[in-house]
Amino acid sequence: MSGPSQYVPKNALARWLEARLPIIGFTYDSFVAYPTPKNLNYWWTFGAILSFMLIAQILTGVVLAMHYTGHTSMAFNSVEHIMRDVNWGWMIRYLHANGASMFFLAVYIHMARGLYYGSYKAPREVLWILGVVIFLLMMATAFMGYVLPWGQMSFWGATVITNLFSAIPLVGDAITIWLWGGYSVDNPTLNRFFSLHYLLPFMIAAVVALHVWALHVVGQNNPAGVDIKDVEKDSVPFTPHATMKDMVGVAVFFILFAWFAFFVPNYLGHSDNYIEANPLVTPAHIVPEWYFLPFYAILRAIPSKLGGVIFMFASIAILVVLPWLDTSRVRSAVYRPIYKIFFWLFIVTVIGLGYLGSQPPEGGAVIAARILTAWYFIHFIVVMPLLGLFEKTKPVPASINDAVLAKNGGERVAAAAPAQ
Ligand code: HEM
Repeated sequence: MSGPSQYVPKNALARWLEARLPIIGFTYDSFVAYPTPKNLNYWWTFGAILSFMLIAQILTGVVLAMHYTGHTSMAFNSVEHIMRDVNWGWMIRYLHANGASMFFLAVYIHMARGLYYGSYKAPREVLWILGVVIFLLMMATAFMGYVLPWGQMSFWGATVITNLFSAIPLVGDAITIWLWGGYSVDNPTLNRFFSLHYLLPFMIAAVVALHVWALHVVGQNNPAGVDIKDVEKDSVPFTPHATMKDMVGVAVFFILFAWFAFFVPNYLGHSDNYIEANPLVTPAHIVPEWYFLPFYAILRAIPSKLGGVIFMFASIAILVVLPWLDTSRVRSAVYRPIYKIFFWLFIVTVIGLGYLGSQPPEGGAVIAARILTAWYFIHFIVVMPLLGLFEKTKPVPASINDAVLAKNGGERVAAAAPAQ
């Protein structure tokens, strides 16, 4: 946090430490006294939910790694050993496997919240771009984690995705062989994926620290999309207000997570992954986990392999330049009636792509995937720049306080109140 610390050490030990390493003051300023917009809704609890999920994934993952063996001859059996022999092993594994899905569910909601309320717009561009970096790291981590049980989908998923690099002209084959550590997905591939799958979450944690740092420099956006002007009127201290709300969000989300992990633990997985990897038998349909399906649909929608790879990566890269593609002067969709419609159209497009990614690429499904892929890019490249120029927005409240009063039917109260 910037500015002088508001923390006053209460005893000699705290004063001594504060003079040498002001860590208590830093935590106090960042998570207790920190001024939080007073109009935040529950969509703002997803940052805390994501932090919770990251910690849960690291803790369960570290325990799984104590019993897992990263070798092609033992990986599949070591996972079965975890499920059957290790005390509470089934629970740790189901929490970790379903935790990955929950993590992605939360990150998609977190990103959609950012899109709706314009949280990527100035001065939050770096905060947003760090988010995109986190998202890419999450995708890499999840992809490599899925290979570790060494089931049929693990093996064939890894084969399909690593093979994409071979589409790069001239150096593609060399890169693919380098990635594999051999001439096909095999033991060196599994072993290095295990190593990287263990490493990347800690890199995610480091980028999350930068993400939260950037957030605390520019301050939180909020449903009104106007910044805090008067700390007294527009904000409340982070603790207890935001901490309590975040705890409610985390608790409710945990119920959903627990329902998946304890009642339908294999619902989100693929049954073929309970068959040990066999390089001689290709499954009828190779499908990734649900959270990759929209990107998989974009990959397959383009008739050329290289084109598919370029469009798939571009679909994420385009998020980096979004702050500059959106030309609107108004941040929040609450005051952008036309953008609101396009936002929901975009959400439907992504869900539609996800559905098509799960279907065999034949007939009408291919045409539909092409239309939705085209719309995905048109949304960013055409709609966002033009809408900002032509949309007639609603009047934006002068302050967060005004937005709150207006929402509570308090315009008249505000108007009638004597000027201070
Ligand atoms: C491990 C993943 C992530 C963690 C732990 C995380 C954490 C957080 C936290 C704690 C906040 C503040 C609370 C809140 O606004 O919800 C936040 C805000 C934000 N995050 Fe993330 N985040 C993650 C991923 C992402 C991704 C993938 C993006 C976008 C691509 C993103 C974009 C943003 C933006 C724009 C804000 C500011 C929101 C606002 O003030 O309106 N984050 N994040």
